[in-house]
Amino acid sequence: MKIGVLTGGGDCPGLNAAIRAVVRRATCYKYDVLGIKNGWAGMIRGNMEPLTSKSVSGILPIGGTMLGTSRTNPMKREGDMNRVQENFKAFGMTALIAIGGDDTLSVAYKLFQLGMPVVGVPKTMDNDILETDYCIGFDSAVTTVVEALDKLHTTASAHHRAMVVEVMGRDAGWVATVGGLAGGADFIMIPEASCSLDELCQHLKNRLARGKSFSIIVVSEGAQIPEIHNGDLGKTDDFGHIRLDRRGVGETVAREIESRTGLEARVVVLGHLQRGGSPTVFDRVLATRLGVAAVDLVRESKFGYVPMLRGNQIVPVELARVVAGTRTVDLDLYELAKVFF
Ligand code: F6P
Repeated sequence: MKIGVLTGGGDCPGLNAAIRAVVRRATCYKYDVLGIKNGWAGMIRGNMEPLTSKSVSGILPIGGTMLGTSRTNPMKREGDMNRVQENFKAFGMTALIAIGGDDTLSVAYKLFQLGMPVVGVPKTMDNDILETDYCIGFDSAVTTVVEALDKLHTTASAHHRAMVVEVMGRDAGWVATVGGLAGGADFIMIPEASCSLDELCQHLKNRLARGKSFSIIVVSEGAQIPEIHNGDLGKTDDFGHIRLDRRGVGETVAREIESRTGLEARVVVLGHLQRGGSPTVFDRVLATRLGVAAVDLVRESKFGYVPMLRGNQIVPVELARVVAGTRTVDLDLYELAKVFF
């Protein structure tokens, strides 16, 4: 058995923990492991190297991914899917483990449909993969958001300002909702619950009237705000995604607050800080469990599956169900956060 392993899409803390778990579990079964460089780009170009227990030693607490990553989509350019399949054979692989979000897993599903023995592992700080309660990277990202909110509270309070904090979250507002809930946000704007600037500014005025001289507003980069139109955000990536940081939603919200409420406003864009640093305990344990479970699925020849966290159990779920859509925020959780606005 020779297992190829790759990490695709945006990085996040916990990827190295998952790679280490794959290699260590594979070693238990005397399987060889090939580390594929830079996501699907490495499969297209045949860029890979053997991984051993020694080569993954010490990577558990380190952010990023020792394999590198990319947003390369082999379904985009003619011939690339064939190259992936040819390299799979040429390098003597007998199974492939793809660690990634919805984009990476959609490629894995296509390859599985074409006959490749593939297993997926769910990671994305956006936490928007269907069929799992948590994805690798989310807990670490949201912990960074909460640390920032704790710090921003003191300066916002000292200056009696509105502090707008823009966080990541392309299609789903999990980072904003859970981060805002845990960090005591006074307003949260997410893609799932359209909310106007009028509504936000009225809320801030009401808070002022209640004697609350400062407010923390957490805004998802993909928040649905009727008054904000995207305009031209430049070219899309291989999977058709625009650069949401170019929307500048936090900046617009802060400007509007100043002109409509008289409050002084500042904006903080947390950006890629959310994707850096050492994984939390939760992400280390989750990544380790999922990496081990992925190798066990390979051992059972259960291809076309992804190990997922349901409650406290790891259960295998068909890739077809995983890539069928996006897991958006549970609006009950958003309502709960609103209790504290
Ligand atoms: O897909 C995860 C994500 O973190 C999104 O929340 C964000 O829009 C995107 O990646 C940014 O990715 P990058 O700047 O690395 O292309």
